[in-house]
Amino acid sequence: MISDKSVQQVIDTVKVEDVIEDYINLTRRGVNMIGLCPFHNEKTPSFTVSPAKNIYKCFGCGKAGNPVRFLMDHESLSFPDAIRHLAKKYNIELEETRSSEAQVQERQLRESLYLVNDFALEYYAKQLFETETGKSIGLQYFKERGFREDTIKEFGLGYAPSKGDAFTLAAIQKGYKQDMLKQLGLTSKGGRDFFRDRVMFTLHNLTGKVVGFAGRIMGTNKKAPKYINSPETEIYHKSKFLYGAYQAKRAIRQLDECILVEGYTDVISLYQSGIQNVVASSGTSLTVDQIGLIKRFTPNIKILYDGDAAGIKAALRGLDLVLEQDLNVKVVLLPTGEDPDSFMRSQGLTAFEQYLKDEAKDFIFFKTDLLLKESENDPVKKTAVIKDIVSSIARIPDPIKRSLYVREVSQLMNVAEKMLVAEVNQAQMSLLKRQRKDRKQNRTNPQQDPSFPGGQNQLIPVGPELEAAQQKASQKSIEFQEKDLVRVIITEGDKVDKESGQSVLSYLLKELEPEVIDEIVHPVYKRVFEIAAQELAGGNSPTSAFWTNHREPEISELAVNLSSPPFDYSPNWEEKHQILLRSQVPPEFNFQKDAEQALKRFRLKKLQKLAIENQKRIKTAYESNDDIQVMRWMKLQRKLQEMRDQVAKELGTVVFGK
Ligand code: CTP
Ligand code: MN
Repeated sequence: MISDKSVQQVIDTVKVEDVIEDYINLTRRGVNMIGLCPFHNEKTPSFTVSPAKNIYKCFGCGKAGNPVRFLMDHESLSFPDAIRHLAKKYNIELEETRSSEAQVQERQLRESLYLVNDFALEYYAKQLFETETGKSIGLQYFKERGFREDTIKEFGLGYAPSKGDAFTLAAIQKGYKQDMLKQLGLTSKGGRDFFRDRVMFTLHNLTGKVVGFAGRIMGTNKKAPKYINSPETEIYHKSKFLYGAYQAKRAIRQLDECILVEGYTDVISLYQSGIQNVVASSGTSLTVDQIGLIKRFTPNIKILYDGDAAGIKAALRGLDLVLEQDLNVKVVLLPTGEDPDSFMRSQGLTAFEQYLKDEAKDFIFFKTDLLLKESENDPVKKTAVIKDIVSSIARIPDPIKRSLYVREVSQLMNVAEKMLVAEVNQAQMSLLKRQRKDRKQNRTNPQQDPSFPGGQNQLIPVGPELEAAQQKASQKSIEFQEKDLVRVIITEGDKVDKESGQSVLSYLLKELEPEVIDEIVHPVYKRVFEIAAQELAGGNSPTSAFWTNHREPEISELAVNLSSPPFDYSPNWEEKHQILLRSQVPPEFNFQKDAEQALKRFRLKKLQKLAIENQKRIKTAYESNDDIQVMRWMKLQRKLQEMRDQVAKELGTVVFGK
């Protein structure tokens, strides 16, 4: 268990933008920063980070929270693990109280996959650097390939000995369960080592955790596969993995470009030579998930192909996917017989970089050139080429880019631009149809919040249904006013009025009768009131950070949502419900007024609710000919109406602190 003090220390230290920038690219927009949401697939950024409030919120999918929440969601970490991760990042020493047996077991279970992999990494590295065979075979191999020792260490390279079960025995002796070793594919079903007599490559995820391994055979044994890789596990999904991404992410962000190569050794070789924004797809064509990974850092991708790669054409087809995701794709074809590693070694950095500069071709033109060469003077083939190129262009979401390509390609191919436009449009229509169908099949609109007035397509109710609907609406409205008060408590509760010397929170709690608080409908809002009252009684004045970092997830989530710019107020909400839209808050707007108005609006709603209830009493009394009761409730009704009118009148013209 991590002590409360340590948890607090971490929470007080972390900066939301620091944490998030490890994963996605953020750009400044006013006081906030924005980027592409890592939680859903989007093309225009709606993921907003507020350094001032130390929170983030995505206006597309609604994910929101503080830095700890981000790690929990993004890396699937538990709360304590997220804290541990942050403590490491900021070099904070955590005070851990001794864990019980059960806790140890639980945590081991969760983290054991990573732990076993950590052990394996250490083991293979030790073999490489500290054993005679490791040094003479493995290290020698890497050195011959020109890998420096610092590079070898940074990428976690190693050596797996040839003895059948050396690793497995060592791991078991250290207390790791064989079951886990098998689960990770480090030990084969029969109990032998999976990786034997191979040089080892460590597969890191974006945070640097070890998710798997690849072992390369040395020399040329034609019978055995060149590489063998860890199987898919809970922590390693090949299709979502890019080799080198952990080491490359900073450079990718800085240079605003990602270079994609095929092999592990290409990544290492380029990285070592000074091209650090490089990742590998590990020999397969790119998947949507991998593209998504790149897109978090940059929209620009440069793909390096081996000059003699037979699969270029097949790879090209895969690239349409990249176009669809609105990345800018450039392609570089290396000279025949070269791969990025060999080419770098023979040319050196300067010449290599120059080559990339000179030879990088826009993907569409590259494809056009390539296909045209193949279809020379063959009209049938040429028609097929046009179709192929057209279908690529149609996938580009940006219409301006699309029309530019059409123009260029029409010249390259010597066909009329008009005809190409028609073709592209047609291809796009069928693409759209297909996408729409997909969407219908597997998506419900996340923005359709049922508590959002007008957010649902409801049928118009009549009769008793109408009454029920009215009641429900009134209930929603009350909740909305409750929420508004809670918003004031959370975002402005600690502010102090200069004249009266009293905090907004203390003012509100004094003004609100305890019975009213008891009656709060929404359980989470009620909890806010409870916590606020407790804190106030303890002499504290909770800040908005207190709320956004609150340990109860519903509370912190609510706080984050209320602290972000308005999102859940519909456009005409203000008129309908006299709610102040915070995006339209004038500069002279002050928190005292906000607090008072929230309170008045809340009262107004309560009075309205009471009036409706009283009306029913009148009706019942009237129907049973009980004149005395009718008189009595009528009197109350007038009183309620008077009060309501009074509050309504005061709204907007009130003075704080009386
Ligand atoms: N690959 C694989 N399994 C194989 C062959 C290849 O997983 N049997 C993947 C590896 O990720 C490899 C990439 O495909 O890195 C590219 O293959 P290749 O060019 O053959 O390997 P390199 O890493 O370039 O190795 P080397 O430079 O030593 O030939
Ligand atoms: Mn290679």
